[in-house]
Parts: sequence; C-alpha cells; structure tokens
Amino acid sequence: MAEREKELAVVCSQEQLAEGIFSMWIRTKAAMTAMPGQFLSMYTNDKSKLLPRPISICEIDREKGMIRVVYRVTGEHTGTEEFSRMREEDTLPVIGPLGNGFPLEEARGRKAFLIGGGIGVPPILELAKQIDCEKQIIVGYRDDQTFLKKEFEQNGAVYISTEDGSVGTAGNVMDAIRENALQADIIYACGPTPMLKAIKAYAKEQEIPCYISLEERMACGIGACLACVCKSKDKDHHSHVHNKRICKDGPVFLSTEVEL
Ligand code: FES
Repeated sequence: MAEREKELAVVCSQEQLAEGIFSMWIRTKAAMTAMPGQFLSMYTNDKSKLLPRPISICEIDREKGMIRVVYRVTGEHTGTEEFSRMREEDTLPVIGPLGNGFPLEEARGRKAFLIGGGIGVPPILELAKQIDCEKQIIVGYRDDQTFLKKEFEQNGAVYISTEDGSVGTAGNVMDAIRENALQADIIYACGPTPMLKAIKAYAKEQEIPCYISLEERMACGIGACLACVCKSKDKDHHSHVHNKRICKDGPVFLSTEVEL
C-alpha cells in the first residue's frame, strides 16, 4: 500500500458516551473510501508526541464526508486525552483509511456473529450497518455503561454481556452465546486478546470461518514502532512461520492465520 499523506481533519462534534469513552465525528476525505474494520491514525497537535494513535472507525457518513470514531482515553497527558478535549471546528492531522477491513462478501447468505468487546465494540457498528446477512450482534462490556447499544439495536439482534452482570449475561461474550444458545456459520470479532483467543477456539471447534481484528494490539498504526508484530502462518509457504505487522498486514485476519 502506498504511503498516505496526512490530512487536516475538522472536528464536527464530540460527546462522552461512558466513563473514559468518547465519540467524535470528524470531517475527513477518508470518509470517501473507508470500510468497516479500517482505522485512522490520528495525530495530536502536541509536537512532543510524534507518533499518531490508531483509532478504529465506528461509523461512516459518505454523503456528509464524515467519520465517527469512538475511543477510550488511556490516561492523563495522552494523545487520546487531547482528542477528548477537542471541540467543534478544531483540527487535527489524520492519515487514513488504513488497514484491510472486514471482508463483507464472505457473509452473504450466512448467519453471522458480529462480536465486540471493550474498546473493540465501536468498529462492529459500521460492520453491522454494512454487512448483508443474518446478524447476531454480541457485545461485551465491563458494567452498565453499554455505549452504542441503541445503535446496535437498529442493526440486528443484540446480546449483551457485562463483567459485573448488571446488564444481559453475566460474564463475557462467549457466556452470552452459550446462555442464548446462539449459532452461526461465520464470525467477525474485535476486542482484547483473551476474548479473541476464546472465539478462535470456538470457531475451530465449530469449524466455521472467523475473522478477527487485532487492532487493540496496535500502537502507532503506521508501521513505525513494531509494537504490533505477531506470528502468522503463511499458507502460501507451506506453514512457515512469518512475522506480520498488524497495522500493515491487518488489522483483520482469518483466525487460523495468526497466533494469539
Ligand atoms: Fe506501530 Fe504497527 S502499530 S508498527
């Protein structure tokens, strides 16, 4: 993929959805071509922070040329904290869309699980809006701050799990699948590594294809820090093990292609 230019995006709105979780609509050219599962690398205006933050795309409004990002503030004096303080008409440099995104065609005519956990929940929303199949959306949260729930309910059957048991199934997304006796013949998922491991094992057992986004393991998003390297099995080379950069080769992989 050719290196892309930085572009100055304009903040259209900003709101807080839950503790530490913010939603921002920005006007950017990336909206013209972005697809579900891709991300933007967003720079702060603080020159001491040279590397951008990869932030997943939550919603795309092509007509208005806008993208919604829903992100977690990772601490004080961080890039994400600076994003959360931005207001309408503020500008920030972005590069994108980046990454491969979820393959949508594979799901046609099938019954799918669309699974998101924690800060892996947001990219599942645009996926749920665009994918053409029978959708069962399973989203896992820590507590009753179930951000984006209403939007999910407009796009499929929604099942919720919470770690503290305050909403839906007590436990994780796999517990919600079991409790509701859900079944699927293809899986799309994004979330923390332990969740993806469990989903990968389930997909193997069920013998169904499973696409996972490893975006939570990215740091710079532009191939500069090597923090995202993972082991992958390259089928074309007779199961030789290769290292892949999640931000360049992914973030979406077939679960059988990568070691978690
Ligand atoms: Fe930095 Fe991939 S996230 S190299």
